[in-house]
Amino acid sequence: MYRNNPHPVHLKDYRPPEFLIDTVDLRFELDADRTRVEAHLALRRNPVATRGDGGLRLDGEQLELEAVAIDDRPLPPAEYRVTPESLTIHRVPDRFTLTTRVTISPSQNTALEGLYQSGDMLCTQCEAEGFRRITYFLDRPDVMARFTTTLIADAERYPVLLANGNPAARRTLDDGRQLTRWVDPFPKPSYLFALIAGDLSAIEDRFTTASGREVVLRIYVEPHNLDKCDHAMRSLKQAMRWDEERYGREYDLDIFMIVAVSHFNMGAMENKGLNVFNDKYVLARSDTATDQDFQGIEGVIAHEYFHNWTGNRITCRDWFQLSLKEGFTVYRDQEFSADMGSRGVKRIADVRLLRAHQFAEDASPMAHPVRPESYIEINNFYTTTVYEKGAELVRMQATLLGPERFRRATDLYFERHDGQAVTTEDFVRCMEAASGCDLGQFRRWYSQAGTPVLEVEGDYDAASATYRLRVRQHTPATPGQPEKAPLHLPLALALLDAEGRELALRLDGEAAAAPAGTRVLELREAEQCFTFVDIAEPPVPSLLRGFSAPVRLRFDYSDAELMFLMAHDGDGFSRWDAAQTLMQRLLLRLVEDPAAVIPESFFAAFAQALDDRTGDPALLAEVLTLPAESYLGDQMAVVDVDGIHRARCALEQAIGVRLRDRLLAVYAAHDDAGAYRLTPEAIGARALKNRALGYLLAAGDAEGLARCIAQFEAARNMTDCISALRLLVDHGGEAGLEALSRFHTRWSGEPLVLDKWFSVQATSPRPDTLARVERLMRNPDFSLRNPNRVRSLIGAFCNANPVRFHAADGSGYRFLADRVLELDPLNPQVAARLMRALVHWRRFDAARQALMRAEIERVLATEALSRDLYEVASRALE
Ligand code: PHE
Ligand code: ZN
Repeated sequence: MYRNNPHPVHLKDYRPPEFLIDTVDLRFELDADRTRVEAHLALRRNPVATRGDGGLRLDGEQLELEAVAIDDRPLPPAEYRVTPESLTIHRVPDRFTLTTRVTISPSQNTALEGLYQSGDMLCTQCEAEGFRRITYFLDRPDVMARFTTTLIADAERYPVLLANGNPAARRTLDDGRQLTRWVDPFPKPSYLFALIAGDLSAIEDRFTTASGREVVLRIYVEPHNLDKCDHAMRSLKQAMRWDEERYGREYDLDIFMIVAVSHFNMGAMENKGLNVFNDKYVLARSDTATDQDFQGIEGVIAHEYFHNWTGNRITCRDWFQLSLKEGFTVYRDQEFSADMGSRGVKRIADVRLLRAHQFAEDASPMAHPVRPESYIEINNFYTTTVYEKGAELVRMQATLLGPERFRRATDLYFERHDGQAVTTEDFVRCMEAASGCDLGQFRRWYSQAGTPVLEVEGDYDAASATYRLRVRQHTPATPGQPEKAPLHLPLALALLDAEGRELALRLDGEAAAAPAGTRVLELREAEQCFTFVDIAEPPVPSLLRGFSAPVRLRFDYSDAELMFLMAHDGDGFSRWDAAQTLMQRLLLRLVEDPAAVIPESFFAAFAQALDDRTGDPALLAEVLTLPAESYLGDQMAVVDVDGIHRARCALEQAIGVRLRDRLLAVYAAHDDAGAYRLTPEAIGARALKNRALGYLLAAGDAEGLARCIAQFEAARNMTDCISALRLLVDHGGEAGLEALSRFHTRWSGEPLVLDKWFSVQATSPRPDTLARVERLMRNPDFSLRNPNRVRSLIGAFCNANPVRFHAADGSGYRFLADRVLELDPLNPQVAARLMRALVHWRRFDAARQALMRAEIERVLATEALSRDLYEVASRALE
């Protein structure tokens, strides 16, 4: 549809660009239907590149070319050639100025790539290859240029005109239009270009950098959203300070701007000095946004800000290096959030996400290394592997180096590569150079796909007072990589005595014991043994503390040992993980045998956790959360969709019945009617009480239901409101319908709040959910053209409602394929992302496999698929 035959691009084919661009001077005459773009590019031959045929090929798509000139000499058509994807000039000098004039149509741009219209404003999205939809260019990240941008537009419709860099001029033209000029002194790749035109309001603040420079901070939104920006501004200032303190990185322009737009394919975009955000990651007020929303905003604001150094000042040589900026920046935002809130809970949330999505991706036909080797459409590689597994790779290097050496290594990275477009290899070299560590084997993590499995066995020998750990690692085959080599990884562990105290550890052959606590072992071999000496009694090992490596750990714990770890492990993550393993085991047993009895000891462990009033309520809420249905499915040879749902409901119900009084007591103890606070303690209290309420409603408890209705009615914060609404919809019968209708009336006019209303309905396990989702698609608040709406209704149904999406009659699959085909001509990126819900088809039973496969084939048989969708659908069948 948009592009010709899909050809893959390979990492091994990388060549430096034949030409470089030193400066870019852009002039936009903005109009929603017809925008004119004039570009002046100062080009020269790249001294280090091999000479081609003497011509110049520029990328360009969906551009209407009006004029082209070299050194001000207009070119006749015989001297150049235009295709749907390029402009080639047959002969060019070694150094010259190229001028092009094109027109584009923002209002027709439903793909939301390039310059497009969102509501009444105009905005851009250029990563990865959107700039070529704005003007002809060498649209690749290793071409870095200094940009000047002049924007001309109707002053009433578009009073605010923004671009990258510092403001340089502003005046009214004779025809009444307004002109604004921006100059960005830092060389940047085209994917970091941005402009905004609209009738926007801003909140403003100031930040003084460590070296005393004053920076103006502005967040632009539509005027009615001005009262929802404070949290984003606070987060920004905290992120700016944190990056100075932790990495020695200061901001570098006179102004930093954030703009919230309502139509956006992704979370947000780090354009130099002008971050453009999905409004979901900016707008929050305690009555409209949940605690999770607030935390998401804090994390994404920080993430985009951190890109100023990890991404912008130092960028990627090519898109195979995407994790260079994304993995490192995710690691940085994870650590920032850990410092702002509760570190243990943050780690749990990150691991939960990694296990639920990245492990599943690694086990699917879409599996790929953190540094992929080839792609058809780069937009398909903004994945949890590149982002979250990439962050784990940086985290492991930080663990192997230790904090001081890691800081020295990042200092070296920033100093050595500032202003360059580099590779993950360059990053690892800095880690080595500054630390003396040999990361030769560690590099395999970047090129080898798949999730390693660690099988650990422990043997205690009383006679010699030794404890021997035998560790074996292997990585299952992934598409195109049948053989896997052993990886270098840090295994953090402790050995606990019968009271739960950490032992001082001495390995056989070592002169002295390390102080009691966590110890990091380095694994390199397929099989390795570690013998600890002077161990007076059989210990319980606490393994993979803090999730020190992105692996699946197997250790044959007894249930009693897991309960011991759940109660005593000093590492919050490991306490949670022990509880997860215990519940997972029990649930899988219930899947196999619905009549299996839930052991008394399980209720006792749960009760003990509930009674603990000294611990962190947020951590406790996590400990008491059952593993997700999709994660349980991931643990089975063949996913038993209905069995898992049944088992999980049964366990929830049993907990609600057996621990009723305790749950009510926990609810009462944490029901805080006071003013809304966003402290980790208050967030934890809300999470815990809503968890307790969930078990009570699952058990059909009348008092629980009464509390839930009261909570829904009285709630002044969205966390409590939406938790209650969800429970009422799933368990409250009529009360659920009534609550839905009141919620809709209350929040009509707040699209982001209505997204929650869509999602609550789309994820309900009620049998009529698909029919309801189909009805909601006709709701005037829904639109296929807005990615947030699509994700909150269709995406939520397909990705977060396994029991209904995988309905045995195939209705969920058919619904998905229909929607994907409907979306593809409008927005290929969103269509391709949605399509991923089908790529795990081989994990299911034969009947479901056949149904899923048939839908994938139906999609593939459709004519004129986008490159994005074609790649996902065809890989799914590989
Ligand atoms: N680079 C953005 C981020 O991670 C994500 C993004 C990619 C946004 C592509 C838009 C398009 O911060
Ligand atoms: Zn990013």
